[in-house]
Formats: sequence, C-alpha cells, structure tokens
Amino acid sequence: MLKIAVLVSGGGTNLQALIDAQKAGKNPNGRIVLVVSSNSKAYALERARQHGIETAVLPRRKYATTEDYDQALLALMQEHEIDLIVLAGFMCILGSTFTRAYDRKIVNVHPSLIPSFCGDGFYGLHVHEAALAYGVKVTGATVHFVNEVTDGGQIIMQKAVEVLPDDTPETLQRRVMEQAEWEILPRTVAMICSGEIK
Ligand code: GAR
Repeated sequence: MLKIAVLVSGGGTNLQALIDAQKAGKNPNGRIVLVVSSNSKAYALERARQHGIETAVLPRRKYATTEDYDQALLALMQEHEIDLIVLAGFMCILGSTFTRAYDRKIVNVHPSLIPSFCGDGFYGLHVHEAALAYGVKVTGATVHFVNEVTDGGQIIMQKAVEVLPDDTPETLQRRVMEQAEWEILPRTVAMICSGEIK
C-alpha cells in the first residue's frame, strides 16, 4: 500500500477526483494520508478534512529560498513516510533538492497537451487564456513525472479535449477538468500504486 501526499493550492477538484476514486475502490494499492496546501484558505483543505485526511499548510512566502521550502516539504514527506507525491493544482515551483529526492515519485497534472502552453507562467486559467488566444481547436490535459524542469518531466498520460467556438477561459477550464484531468489523474495514480507504471 503506497502512502500518498497530495499537494494543493486552490479549489481541489482534482484532489476530490482522487478521493472519489479511492472511495470507489479504484485505487486498492494506495491511500491518501496527507494533503499539503501552500495556501491556508484553499478549499482543498476543507475537502481533505471532510474525508478525515490529515492536512498541513506550508505557505511559500514564509521561506526565503526555494531550497528552504524544499527542505521543509521534504521533512514533512519523510515524517509521514510518503511514497508518492501528487501535485494537484499546486502553484509553487519545487527545487531540485525536492525533485531529486523523490525522482519518479512525483506526478503533476497540467491543463494542456504538453509541450503546448506549459512552463513558467502557464498555470491555472492562464493556460486556457493562452490556448484560446492562439486559436487551437484541440487542447487537453497531461499527467507527467516531475523533475527540475517546470512541466518538463516524462509524460505518463494525456487526453485531448475539443475547444468550442464560444469558449471562454472558464468554460474551457471546466471542460478540460471534467473530460480529462479528473479521469487521467486518478487513473495514473492507481496505475503507479499497482506497479503498472514504474
Ligand atoms: C487544474 O486545472 C490543474 O491542472 C491546474 O490548476 C487547476 C487546479 O484546480 N494546475 C496547473 O496549472 C499547474 N501548472 P483544482 O484545485 O480544482 O484541482
């Protein structure tokens, strides 16, 4: 049974998808034991509490450097004996101290088809604004391993989503979540826990 930590910063709908999958018995080889938020007001924390999952808040601004933040996060992961770390709308950049310590044990969900609309500055709604401004007709979501390059780790799963003519960033974000993120993130996590993805 792998112990999973989910790192969040906002609404936590991807966290909810992971919790729902676990409750539905779709991840028999993993258990979410900790939710860490970079933001004390994140609704994701409430979702975790409602399901009896331990929470921690680690605001990035309390740490002077990325290295300091990495060390604090590392200590928390080690204290809880975490095997797998899931970034689910986590809006802080991790340093190489952290990513190297958990090489191929950190996954992230990104709301575009990498290598489009990714890297520094592409997060949350900005990703969908950029996709609409460019005029792409298809976008989607990607789940990938996390290394020291922002959105640059090995791709594990992707799913395409159609862009509709009257989409706004908000409607597109919602459709990408519903049709792609909430499906491929729990599926990837379950497959890592079962050993199907190494
Ligand atoms: C999701 O769309 C996720 O893919 C994105 O933020 C949203 C968080 O929503 N993540 C990034 O942009 C990371 N680069 P949630 O809090 O409801 O899961």
